[in-house]
Amino acid sequence: MPSESTIPVRVFGGQGYVAGEVLRLLALHPAVHVACVSTTSQAGESVVGAFPHLAGTRLDGIRFLDQEEAATAGWVKGRVEAMIFATPHGATSALIDRALTAAESAGAHAHAIDLSADYRFRDADVYASIYGKPHAAPHRLAEFVSTVPEFHRGATPRHAAQPGCFTTAATTAAYPFVKAGIVEGPIFVAAITGSSGSGRTPVAGTHHPERAHNLYAYNALAHRHEREMRGILGAAAPNGQEPDVEFVPHSGPFVRGIHATVRMTMKSGTTAEAAARIAADAYEGSPFVRVGTSPPKLTEVVATNRVRLGVAVRGRTLVVTSVIDNLTKGAAGGGIQWMNRVLGLPESTGLLIPGPGWI
Ligand SMILES: NC(=O)c1ccc[n+]([C@@H]2O[C@H](COP(=O)([O-])OP(=O)(O)OC[C@H]3O[C@@H](n4cnc5c(N)ncnc54)[C@H](OP(=O)(O)O)[C@@H]3O)[C@@H](O)[C@H]2O)c1
Repeated sequence: MPSESTIPVRVFGGQGYVAGEVLRLLALHPAVHVACVSTTSQAGESVVGAFPHLAGTRLDGIRFLDQEEAATAGWVKGRVEAMIFATPHGATSALIDRALTAAESAGAHAHAIDLSADYRFRDADVYASIYGKPHAAPHRLAEFVSTVPEFHRGATPRHAAQPGCFTTAATTAAYPFVKAGIVEGPIFVAAITGSSGSGRTPVAGTHHPERAHNLYAYNALAHRHEREMRGILGAAAPNGQEPDVEFVPHSGPFVRGIHATVRMTMKSGTTAEAAARIAADAYEGSPFVRVGTSPPKLTEVVATNRVRLGVAVRGRTLVVTSVIDNLTKGAAGGGIQWMNRVLGLPESTGLLIPGPGWI
């Protein structure tokens, strides 16, 4: 229930899969409440009508609000609010700009969390080269930090952009070793995603009959997330140089989750024990990332904000397998982890949920 003591959160993204996952997690969050849920097509309709699995929670009774009203109305001077954007790339940057401008004019303290690709790159030209059209609000880019929350060092930003789901799975596997400066040459990533990665609207290549009992690669060495992986890992490298990442995404016959296999070559003389220690040290104290030597399974993380890594070494070859839930750690959960941070809450607030185990 909305309360004076909890922080309002405006959720953008209507009936989308990621918006639904944001709402599932916020339904139990102890320090915030859902102030509104925006839509471009369902204004006035019941939110739990679009997400029947959320009926019976404190989301009961909330109705979708027109997107422009959700962005611009009701800002109160001095009040802290968060906004989470689970809207399509290309449509999000201008929407965030309008919402922040309205909040600033009212003197409200608004924090934006972007789950789309629109604030993932500091450079508007890089964004335009990958997404094929100019950035709609380049003056806002410097206000956002975009990386996996576990990698961020330094002052807490005002706004944050969660990296892509493939990027989260792959960089979490490679980050400790790149940061330690022990990786030589290209990093090869093969990752399999479930069908919820394509969102709610079915299109020919992602339709159930194409995917349900099938496994195939797509966009080999040409996927948009490859550029994100290079940037995030380059920022972690001791010499600041972006590694060469070779990424091959795959579609898998399941709904939720990403399984990534990341192959690296270690510098000569790095032992298996040293590699295991580097990974364990990098995530020591992390509420979400666990490192082991056995390959992890999707069912260990689905519907949670966890990452499980399995480290294997033979000679100079290092293979790390990584599993996440694309909708949770790869989008909604990672975004709420960022939201907790920018609001000054413990980052695991509302996110330490057990998984179902079998799906
Ligand atoms: N699916 C994943 O695993 C995943 C992972 C990481 C990041 N993301 C990112 O998260 C965002 C949402 O993804 P999704 O999978 O939830 O997509 P989705 O299921 O297609 O939902 C997006 C929703 O946004 C609303 N929308 C449509 N056009 C819009 C517009 N022009 N402006 C504002 N809202 C619009 C629609 O709801 P209404 O009709 O109610 O407005 C739509 O259902 C995307 O940017 C995606 O790249 C997704």
